[in-house]
Amino acid sequence: MKIAVLPGDGIGTEIVAEAIRVLDVLDLKFEMESALVGGAAYEAHGHPLPESTLKLAREADAVLFGAVGDWKYDTLDRPLRPEQAILGLRKHLGLFANFRPAICYEQLVGASSLKPELIAGLDILIIRELTGDIYFGQPRGRRTAVDGHFPGAEEAFDTMRYSRPEVERIARVAFEAARKRDKRVTSVDKANVLETFQFWKDVVTEVHKDYPDVALDHMYVDNAAMQLVKAPKKFDVIVTGNMFGDILSDEAAMLTGSIGMLPSASLNASNQGLYEPSHGSAPDIAGKGVANPLATILSAAMMLRFSLHQPEAADRIESAVRHVLAQGLRTADIWSEGTRRVGTREMGDAVVAAITKKTITG
Ligand code: IPM
Ligand code: MG
Repeated sequence: MKIAVLPGDGIGTEIVAEAIRVLDVLDLKFEMESALVGGAAYEAHGHPLPESTLKLAREADAVLFGAVGDWKYDTLDRPLRPEQAILGLRKHLGLFANFRPAICYEQLVGASSLKPELIAGLDILIIRELTGDIYFGQPRGRRTAVDGHFPGAEEAFDTMRYSRPEVERIARVAFEAARKRDKRVTSVDKANVLETFQFWKDVVTEVHKDYPDVALDHMYVDNAAMQLVKAPKKFDVIVTGNMFGDILSDEAAMLTGSIGMLPSASLNASNQGLYEPSHGSAPDIAGKGVANPLATILSAAMMLRFSLHQPEAADRIESAVRHVLAQGLRTADIWSEGTRRVGTREMGDAVVAAITKKTITG
């Protein structure tokens, strides 16, 4: 088994370093190889996703990814911007199924901006389609308008599209995932306005016939955004398209107190996966040693479970994370009165210690 390690930019290098220390202490048999990606790769090789990095990712069983991006690259041509690295990896590896769990840890109930009773015990799973929709639809670009409100004016356009197989396969992923949970799927669309999402809804409804044991309901995306802050615990699995999933997953993440806690997995048809924290590169706090490494450490746990067939090791990481939270250790993003503020490294140390201690005591 081989893991491609792509730390990227900003806090990416700091948080991935802690995840690696956690993996090392588990003493499992796999090889790890690192490569540059994002702005770091652009600086060194002139491209955010160099051939050599893509090759390493393709050949690995799993990719552990940090984060990419920095404001200083915002003026580059789009194909050279750091974000293209993650979009390119998703596309070239066919990582169509994105799992974004939003779990509220008992100790962090107070860190949420919502009332404790609304989020205590929250455990929802957002399944976001990741290789289609308006993110990848062609054609796109800029041109002179020939019709519309201002013929002759400069305009820009993107294409929202989904094919039947793309919707079918993500719907199946969602129903299968729901079977291992509370057996409820909410499909989020905008069928009242968009042709693409009326089609999405129709196809999801057809696929549902194969999963009579799972309850399916449909919700418009604007209502879903509202319900997520009104009564988030009513959801079990949410399945949606690429763009709505991007937006709703940030919203769901924040319900749990901090986006610094949330891991994610992006899988292809052969269970090869890319694992990354749900948050970005946070250039404002990069290099200060204050970022929360737990989302990345929990992403490593998802990697062990989904792509590397090591569920016990994944459990050990997850229980070590719960242990350090119970000890009262908090990075700045989740700190509150009465808890102990620690930096990135110290948080990593504590997780490592919790794992090794558990090993000794069995
Ligand atoms: C995410 C991010 C990416 C996305 C960006 C960095 C391209 O926001 O993974 O949610 O929009 O998918
Ligand atoms: Mg996003």
